[in-house]
Amino acid sequence: MLTAISRYGARVHPATQQIVAACRERGEFIQGPQIAAFEQAFAARLGAHHAITASYGRIAFYFILKALQIPAGSEIILPALTFWGVPELARVAGLTVRFADVDPATFCMDPAALERTITEKTRAVVPTHLYGLPCDMDAILDIAGRHNLAVVEDCAHALGATYRGRPVGTFGDGALFSFQTLKPLNCYGGGMAVVREATVAERVRQQVEALPWPDEKRIANKLLVGRLQRIFTRPRVFTFTGFPILWVSSYTGSQPDVYLWEKIRSLNPLPEDYLERCSNVQATLGLAGLDLLDGWTAATRSHAHAMNAALGDLPGVQVPSEQPERTHVYYQYCLSGPDRDGLVRDCIRRGVDTETLHVDVCTRLDLFGGERSEAPGADRAAQAIQVPVYASLTDQQSRRVVRVVREAIARRLPAAATPPSQGVSV
Ligand SMILES: Cc1ncc(COP(=O)(O)O)c(C=O)c1O
Repeated sequence: MLTAISRYGARVHPATQQIVAACRERGEFIQGPQIAAFEQAFAARLGAHHAITASYGRIAFYFILKALQIPAGSEIILPALTFWGVPELARVAGLTVRFADVDPATFCMDPAALERTITEKTRAVVPTHLYGLPCDMDAILDIAGRHNLAVVEDCAHALGATYRGRPVGTFGDGALFSFQTLKPLNCYGGGMAVVREATVAERVRQQVEALPWPDEKRIANKLLVGRLQRIFTRPRVFTFTGFPILWVSSYTGSQPDVYLWEKIRSLNPLPEDYLERCSNVQATLGLAGLDLLDGWTAATRSHAHAMNAALGDLPGVQVPSEQPERTHVYYQYCLSGPDRDGLVRDCIRRGVDTETLHVDVCTRLDLFGGERSEAPGADRAAQAIQVPVYASLTDQQSRRVVRVVREAIARRLPAAATPPSQGVSV
């Protein structure tokens, strides 16, 4: 039977259940020595000096901003296309948020737009390595150096990515990483602050250590929710649960996923459970996951390269940009082609779930004054679709995704414009 392929696939350590059970048995579910071990291993992997765990990536970001002691009322520049929670926490930290447009070919901040957005009040910039592709760090660091700006890299999507051979997260004064379920390293929540200076690290640590430890039940619940997500996105289960809703919607024209993302999500930047420490069990999963990270990255990249090879010759199709000197880890694989909504519909009807917006065009959110500022690059980038290339796809599933996407695109091109498919055999 043909099963449906979900847009989401988490990276799950095969020994997860044993790791969790062992933490419980040792009485180290919430507090324990693996937190420090994870921080050390993470810093060592990056070649960075200081890494400090946090309950979420956005909280790591908030603590970094506080620790850098950027005066209240200063301006901070973020890309117009990013997750809303990051600029919102910059605001909570007392800063004024400005957005610089992104390059629609890379989805990352356009250095020329950054330069245009700087005023005499600007004190910091956040290059976000969106979807796993490093930003143009030479250009951004040059601009930041000339204007004396602090640089805080948003690496939530990009653990494992490199720029000129150096891991992202080591270029700025600080960097945040996220360990939510779908992120490159899955700890069922959690985040990491990486900072260059010892004094800044100490200030981040003081803020983290001032927080309470989480409740054991709450962490057990996060693990359970992650496990359920995993079960519901398995092809055999997804085919009979989430997928039928999407399939019916493809005929009725409703968009339940967009509704959930844009209309009814909570825009509270600091829910209660965010202001607590990272648990030992999550750190233990992270520590174990670091050993598998390169394998997961390689599997994802291999699926993405198969997609690039199969789609790159189609006219009017933009596949993700593989820049020289930048290693893309494809947290999301974004492509643009003709008739976006028709493409999504066709793919869903053939059992391949795709997504149309994974982050926010912040310049369009009421939260940030909406419509007042222009970001045509972000508007264009938001027209891309995201197709599954995650590590847990089998090669056979990956070939099927490639074939379905290619055929859906080819159907929208004049026959003469579609070269015979190369290397797309299922
Ligand atoms: C680009 C980006 N930055 C930061 C974050 C925040 O990470 P967390 O959810 O761990 O706070 C996210 C979350 O998805 C994100 O997409």
